[in-house]
Amino acid sequence: MNNDILKVLYSQEEIQAVVNRLGREIAQTYAGKTPVVVGVLKGAIFFMTDIARAVDSYMQIDFIDVSSYHGATESSGTVELLQDINTDIEGRDVLIVEDIVDTGRTLKFLLDTFANRGAQSIKVCTLLDKPAGRAVDAESDFVGFKVPNEFVVGYGLDYDEKYRNLPYIGVLKPEIYTNN
Ligand code: PRP
Ligand code: MN
Ligand code: MG
Repeated sequence: MNNDILKVLYSQEEIQAVVNRLGREIAQTYAGKTPVVVGVLKGAIFFMTDIARAVDSYMQIDFIDVSSYHGATESSGTVELLQDINTDIEGRDVLIVEDIVDTGRTLKFLLDTFANRGAQSIKVCTLLDKPAGRAVDAESDFVGFKVPNEFVVGYGLDYDEKYRNLPYIGVLKPEIYTNN
């Protein structure tokens, strides 16, 4: 295990089981349709590639890059659009794939943006939901795990751009973000 990790919250195996469950739910929901599945970079990279392969039905995939944490453990409060999708989503069914919903600001920004472009439906799949962190109203349709109010890293989630590549989700030792 990485030396900076205090404890593992969800192992690779637990994540895979949840991905499979969500994949079945999503396939049922979109039976007979071809949703545009939008992965939110960078945090959702691994979840997006895993969830897409767990959904046994038609989809298009695209990516959007937004950022609001800028290396910190607390949201800056403003969501910056770094790179847009290139799919025309007017009249389309959109599924947003996130790694985590915390304050809800990123998700609200995406929901508002895609609604303004005339999407026919917008749903959200997030691996982690942290209800205790919510500052604005933005809820998900498919949730992997409800997480406690702790700063988590791994499986795409970073602290200061590190730890994204850990195959599990864990809690950092407090000294890692207090000593910097
Ligand atoms: C993180 C995470 C979510 C968002 C959730 O992204 O990946 O996208 O914050 O937080 P919120 O609910 O408080 O908005 P971040 O801005 O760190 O960019 P990243 O995905 O590139 O790490
Ligand atoms: Mn993100
Ligand atoms: Mg981040």
